[in-house]
Amino acid sequence: MRIAIYPGSFDPPTLGHLDLIQRAGKLVDKLIVAVLHNPNKTYTFSLEERVTFLGELVKDAPKVEVTHFNGLLVDYAAQMKAHFIVRGVRAFSDFEYEFQMALMNRKLSPQLETVFLMPKEEYSVVSSRMVREVGCMGGDISDLVPEVLRTRIAARLKQPL
Ligand code: PNS
Repeated sequence: MRIAIYPGSFDPPTLGHLDLIQRAGKLVDKLIVAVLHNPNKTYTFSLEERVTFLGELVKDAPKVEVTHFNGLLVDYAAQMKAHFIVRGVRAFSDFEYEFQMALMNRKLSPQLETVFLMPKEEYSVVSSRMVREVGCMGGDISDLVPEVLRTRIAARLKQPL
């Protein structure tokens, strides 16, 4: 059974994340979408919101499971018996950070491979940060987030906790 883990902050999930989940799901028997909750970091959306949003996006995908973790990704991947990590690379600008992270993870856990996937070109400028920025100022986020989450994300961004 081929198991992959797709980690991220997903603050909030975007169309790019959904595209990656769909692509990665085709390559594996089980895909674990793992939401990071780092207690030292401030998130716009709570852990519960992020997990709920992702859960809704994958509710019809039996191979995909949504979980959360804190601490080292390699430890969590071992706990979940994952064989590889999936990350998305949208543009060259993502590469430096992703490369460093992949090499660090490999140093910590040599048998755990990182696999990079490219989202659809039209999502190459879509990021959670852009969603937060545009949404906070009341801009249209319909080309940035999945339709089923749009209203809730937009409302929350206009009315922070
Ligand atoms: O969506 P993001 O914020 O780019 O995801 C980053 C994430 C969650 C993949 C990364 O921060 C992570 O794996 N954090 C867990 C801590 C860890 O394992 N750090 C060592 C690898 S650099």
